[in-house]
Amino acid sequence: MVSYFPYIFLFLSVSFKGFALSNEAAQIACNQLASTLGTTLIENSTGPDFNNTVSAPRNLFNTQINFSPACIVLAQEASDVQVAMKTIFQHEVDYAVLAGGHSANEGWDNVNGGILISFERMDQVSYDPQRDTITIQPGVRWGPAAVALEPQGVAPVGGRVDDVGTGLLLGGGLSFLSQAHGFSADNFVELDVVLVNGSMVTATAVNEYADLFRALKGGANRFGIVTRYEVQAIHTGKSEEKTWFGGSITYPEDSFEDLARAISHFVHDNVDPRAVHLSNFARVGLTTTATATLFYNGSTLPQDIFGEFLSIPSLSSNLTSLSYLDIALALAGTSPLGQGTLLGAKALIGGSSSSDDSTDQLYLNTLHLWKNLSDSFSPSEIAISTLDFTPVPISQISYGRPESGRGGNAIDPPLVGYNQIVIGNILPVGVKVVSEEIEDAVRLFLEQAPSSPGIPLFINECDSNQEVFATYGGYDFLKATYAKYDPTRFNIRHTNGPIGL
Ligand SMILES: Cc1cc2nc3c(=O)[nH]c(=O)nc-3n(C[C@H](O)[C@H](O)[C@H](O)COP(=O)(O)OP(=O)(O)OC[C@H]3O[C@@H](n4cnc5c(N)ncnc54)[C@H](O)[C@@H]3O)c2cc1C
Ligand SMILES: *[C@@H]1O[C@H](CO)[C@@H](O)[C@H](O)[C@H]1NC(C)=O
Ligand SMILES: *[C@@H]1O[C@H](CO)[C@@H](O)[C@H](O)[C@H]1NC(C)=O
Ligand SMILES: *[C@@H]1O[C@H](CO)[C@@H](O)[C@H](O)[C@H]1NC(C)=O
Ligand SMILES: *[C@@H]1O[C@H](CO)[C@@H](O)[C@H](O)[C@H]1NC(C)=O
Ligand SMILES: *[C@@H]1O[C@H](CO)[C@@H](O)[C@H](O)[C@H]1NC(C)=O
Ligand SMILES: *[C@@H]1O[C@H](CO)[C@@H](O)[C@H](O)[C@H]1NC(C)=O
Repeated sequence: MVSYFPYIFLFLSVSFKGFALSNEAAQIACNQLASTLGTTLIENSTGPDFNNTVSAPRNLFNTQINFSPACIVLAQEASDVQVAMKTIFQHEVDYAVLAGGHSANEGWDNVNGGILISFERMDQVSYDPQRDTITIQPGVRWGPAAVALEPQGVAPVGGRVDDVGTGLLLGGGLSFLSQAHGFSADNFVELDVVLVNGSMVTATAVNEYADLFRALKGGANRFGIVTRYEVQAIHTGKSEEKTWFGGSITYPEDSFEDLARAISHFVHDNVDPRAVHLSNFARVGLTTTATATLFYNGSTLPQDIFGEFLSIPSLSSNLTSLSYLDIALALAGTSPLGQGTLLGAKALIGGSSSSDDSTDQLYLNTLHLWKNLSDSFSPSEIAISTLDFTPVPISQISYGRPESGRGGNAIDPPLVGYNQIVIGNILPVGVKVVSEEIEDAVRLFLEQAPSSPGIPLFINECDSNQEVFATYGGYDFLKATYAKYDPTRFNIRHTNGPIGL
C-alpha cells in the first residue's frame, strides 16, 4: 500500500471500520444488480471479464494486487450507470469509476469490496457535421479517437498520450491543441451526468445545470458520472495535410539549466497560440536526458518564438512537417503498463528572457531538486524518474473564461502564463510496494519545490494528498456546487478522489 502522508493512515483506519458493513452491503447490492441488469453486465470474480477489468488500471498499485471489487458493472448504456448508482446509493456501498485507467492515485479508479463501474464497453466516438461537435463515450482513448475522426478532418481537444482516457477531461485536460483551444474541458458543449443518487441530467453552459457543467471542468470524479461528452470539433485536417512543423529535440545534461530557462521564458514571452511546447527531463534506467517537444501550426518553427530551444546544444532532433494526426500520435507508446507510479504537481509562472528574472531561479531550483531525487535512487529502485513542464499561456486561460461564452471552468487561473509541472516516478517491473525512502523523497520534493502563489495545481497529475481544489480560482464555487448536487456527501464518503470539498 502506498501511503505518503500520516493522515492517509487515519483515512484508511476510518474506512476500514466501515468495511465489514460495506462488504456485506456490497454483496447485497451486487446480487440485486445481477438480477436487474443480468450477469453479462454484472460480474463477480468468477466472471469472464473480471480479471481483465481489475487489472486494466495502468498503475500497478491500482490493480488486483491491492484491489478486489465485490462486483464490476460493465456498463453498455447510461441507464446501466443510473441503475448501478441508484443501488449503490441506496445500499451505501463504496464505489469507483474506471475509464482509461491512467490515474496515478491509489484507489481513484478501483475499489476494494465495493462496486467498480467500468466504461470499457462504451468506447464509441462520432462526429456530427450539422452541430460541428464530437460525441465521446467515456471509454474512449485519445489515440483511437484521433485515428477514427481523421477521415473527417476533425479532432477533439483531448490528451497527448494515445492510451489515456476521458477521465482527463474532468480534470481540465492539457492537449497539444490547448494553446489555441483551451483546457480540453473548455470545449464541452453538452454533458450527460448521472448524479450520485442515480438521477440523470443533461448539463450545458446555459441551462439550469450550468453550475454542474462548470464544476465538471476541473472537479474530477466528485460531481457525478459523465456518460456522454459532446465537445466542440476542432478542424485539424486529414493526415495528408502536413500543415504543422515540429517534433522533438533531445538534450544532454550539460544543457539542462539552459533548457530550464528557455521553459521559463517561453510561457512568459510567447503570445502566439499556434506555438506548442512540452518539455520533459528524464532518467530512464541509467540515462539522463531532456526532450523538448515543439510544434507550430505553420510551415516552420519561427526563430523569434523557439530560438532559445533551437540554440541550446542538443544530441538529436526530428523536426519535420507534420499532420495533426502525426502530433496526436507523437507520444504513442510512452506510458508503460503494470508498473507502480507516483506523481506530484507543481506550478510556476514564467520569467522574461529580456531581464535577469529571479523567476528563472525557481525553475533551476525545481530542476536541481528533481535531479537530486532521481540521482538518489538506482534504476532497480526507480526505473524512470521524470520532470515535465507544460505551458498554460494566457491564450488558453482566456479561452475558458466565462466571457468567452463557454460557461467558464472551475480551475479559473489568473490571466498570467504559467507552467504546470509534474514529477513522476515509475518503479521497476514487479515491484509491488513503495519503499519508505522513495515515499520520503517524493514528499520532500513536494515540500521543497516552489509553486507560484495563486496559480492552480493540476488535478490530473497530482499526488492524492495535495490540496489541489484549494488552488483553483473557482474553489468557493466548487464547494457550493458540490453541496448542491451531493447534499449527503455520498461521493466523498464512498469513493476516493481529490480532497478539499
Ligand atoms: C502517461 C500519462 C500521460 C498523461 N498525459 C496527460 C496529458 O497529456 N494531459 C492531461 O491533461 N493529463 C495527462 N495525464 C493525466 C491524466 O489526464 C489523468 O491521469 C486522467 O485522470 C486519466 O484519465 P483516464 O480516463 O485515463 O483514467 P481513470 O483512472 O480511468 O480515470 C481518472 C479519474 O477520473 C474518474 N473518471 C473517469 N471517467 C469518469 C466519468 N465518466 N465520470 C466520473 N468520473 C470519471 C475516475 O474515477 C478516476 O478518478 C497523463 C497521465 C499519464 C499516466
Ligand atoms: C458470482 O456470480 C455468479 C454468476 O452470476 C453467481 O452464481 C455467484 O453466486 C456469485 N458469487 C457470489 C459470491 O456472489
Ligand atoms: C482470475 O485470476 C485469478 C488469480 O489472479 C485466478 O485464480 C482466476 O481463475 C482468474 N479467473 C478467471 C475467470 O480467469
Ligand atoms: C492553424 O492556424 C490557422 C491560421 O493560421 C487556423 O485557421 C487554424 O484553425 C489553426 N488550426 C488549429 C487546429 O488550431
Ligand atoms: C520524434 O522523436 C521522439 C523521441 O525522441 C518521438 O517520441 C517522436 O514520436 C518523434 N516524432 C515526433 C513527430 O515527435
Ligand atoms: C537529496 O535527496 C535525498 C533523498 O530524498 C535527500 O535525503 C537529501 O536531503 C536531498 N538533498 C538536497 C540538497 O535536497
Ligand atoms: C438526486 O439528487 C439531486 C441533487 O441533489 C436532486 O435534485 C434529485 O431530486 C435527487 N433525485 C432523487 C430521485 O432523489
